[in-house]
Amino acid sequence: MRSLIDVVDFSVEEINELIKTALDIQKNPDMYSETCKGKILATLFFEPSTRTRLSFETAMLRLGGSVIGFSSASSSSASKGESVADTAKVISTYADIIAMRHYKEGAPFVASQNANIPVINAGDGGHCHPTQTLADLLTIYRRHGGFDNLTVGFCGDLKFGRTVHSLISALARYSGVKIVLISPKELKLPDYVIKNVIEKSGLSYVETDSLEEYMNQLDVLYMTRVQGERFEDKLEYERLKDSYILTPDKIVSAKSSMTIMHPLPRVNELSVKIDTDSRACYFMQVESGKLMRMALIIKLLKEAKNPEKEDRLATANESVIKCKNPACITTTEQEIIHYYKSVDGERHCIYCDAKI
Ligand code: CP
Repeated sequence: MRSLIDVVDFSVEEINELIKTALDIQKNPDMYSETCKGKILATLFFEPSTRTRLSFETAMLRLGGSVIGFSSASSSSASKGESVADTAKVISTYADIIAMRHYKEGAPFVASQNANIPVINAGDGGHCHPTQTLADLLTIYRRHGGFDNLTVGFCGDLKFGRTVHSLISALARYSGVKIVLISPKELKLPDYVIKNVIEKSGLSYVETDSLEEYMNQLDVLYMTRVQGERFEDKLEYERLKDSYILTPDKIVSAKSSMTIMHPLPRVNELSVKIDTDSRACYFMQVESGKLMRMALIIKLLKEAKNPEKEDRLATANESVIKCKNPACITTTEQEIIHYYKSVDGERHCIYCDAKI
């Protein structure tokens, strides 16, 4: 059964197909209004969301299907201690496809191993957010016509910003892309993304703590919120939360064709004064998200007719050593088997990618 847990589960060709379908849906929405008639999407959101949950629900309704679900862990039986595995098995008997957001890294992967319907990762802790990446890719495509040779700056919380991790994984597969990583040292990109994604793919990158230093070279500037909910030390969050604030004076040297992106929600890091700049594309990203989620639901429901089980564990090994990442799903899921994959001689948890 095909699921979407990480954006690289789909080939570049498959992502190109999704972009093509999304653009066709935008042009001819009526042609798709009954595509999913009789099908049910379950949105299982254990963490807050405005865009992702409601755009998934809108996507399914616009395709003629129906929606069930919950919007917080407290309104589900997770609050009574039910495991992710059992939740996935139960929902498989009610719905045709699941979109799951969870605060634990790897939870949607556990769901996909236990469901017999497709599972979409709608954001797992600070790990991945592949459908935001689909929205980001369509936005970049609409603005720049492709991805090769772009210089993309990521600014803010690169440590916990799951949208950043997923978009870098996606961009690493195109040629000539350069990335500029702009963050305070406390919020630098995790080592596993640098080693397993950037260095492995040969993606060109620089790290800086200056928002202005590379501004004139950027084709895309991807701003992010400092993710207060992932900090153990709230004082540290208070100290870092306003590290970067994008205001009109900061983009004076930027290209007139630069695209300013933000996955939203924003707090202080992106001034509303930028909204009227023709380069501001974060509300276009929201529209792209709905279109790509429609295309994704169509694809996964079509492929669900093929009962062949996709096995992401095929190249993994059972591990006697437990993952030490406190945010990993293996720390809370009952009787879970620990697995690792080998990356350049190192062992990484199959659920959250942390080094074991
Ligand atoms: N971009 C994003 O994931 O927004 P929500 O948290 O509102 O879903």
